[in-house]
Amino acid sequence: MTAVIEHITHADWLDIVPTLGDESIDLLYVDPPFNTGKSQSAGTHTYADSWATTDDWLAWFRERLVVTLPKMKPTANLLIHTDWRTTHHVRLLLDQLLGEDHFVNHLIWSYGLGGSSPRRFARKHDDILFYCINPKEYYFEPPMVPATSNRMKGQLKKATDILDIPSLNNMSNERVGYPTQKPLALLKMLINACSPTGGTVLDPCCGSGTTLVAAKDLGRTPIGCDQNKDAIKIARTRLAASP
Ligand SMILES: C[S@@+](CC[C@H](N)C(=O)[O-])C[C@H]1O[C@@H](n2cnc3c(N)ncnc32)[C@H](O)[C@@H]1O
Repeated sequence: MTAVIEHITHADWLDIVPTLGDESIDLLYVDPPFNTGKSQSAGTHTYADSWATTDDWLAWFRERLVVTLPKMKPTANLLIHTDWRTTHHVRLLLDQLLGEDHFVNHLIWSYGLGGSSPRRFARKHDDILFYCINPKEYYFEPPMVPATSNRMKGQLKKATDILDIPSLNNMSNERVGYPTQKPLALLKMLINACSPTGGTVLDPCCGSGTTLVAAKDLGRTPIGCDQNKDAIKIARTRLAASP
């Protein structure tokens, strides 16, 4: 395998994108702040996650997405990771920017952990919107998962749009102490399915670098930035440790 050269920068998403070549990215994965209305913290690491209104959050997101789209290859894909607060807004935004026929999947990341509520069904999933740049030629390799039915016991089947992957518990070896860190297993499944080997994967809100590590491990070139200095430090350490 040829050496993978990663690019990781402490910067705002908006400032990094103009430095990228047009039509150079195979996969954009974004796990932005969800607009929870409070800072996200783990230990000493914190990032801000509050906008005055949902419209303000959406304007922030739209501005960055619009400059990123020309950087995507014709065969490229977008995976936008949100939750119940904004997923419906982002879906309409993507329909508007790309066209409804560019929608591929609304993936449910079902993670299990967390509390319950006496007032509603417990919220136990995130939403990952999968759009393509060109519906006629986008890359996709269906992930295979263990079959659960008795009839197919011991065999593999194509994954559905519900991804049952546990979130990282407090004892997990994978934990690096950054808030809202996503599991490598989730990112590896997404990257394998939605980008070719040797392709380029951009995560412009990379946090602790989960996407970048997964991309590097899978032989893709990772490009990432984050406006949080701690995040970049952690992501660089993780990348350096990954073979
Ligand atoms: C949900 S976290 C990402 C977590 C990451 N997926 C992981 O596994 O560690 C969102 C990240 O977006 C970053 N961020 C917020 N606004 C940004 C901006 N304008 N440009 C770049 N990064 C930004 C935050 O600092 C935070 O690290």
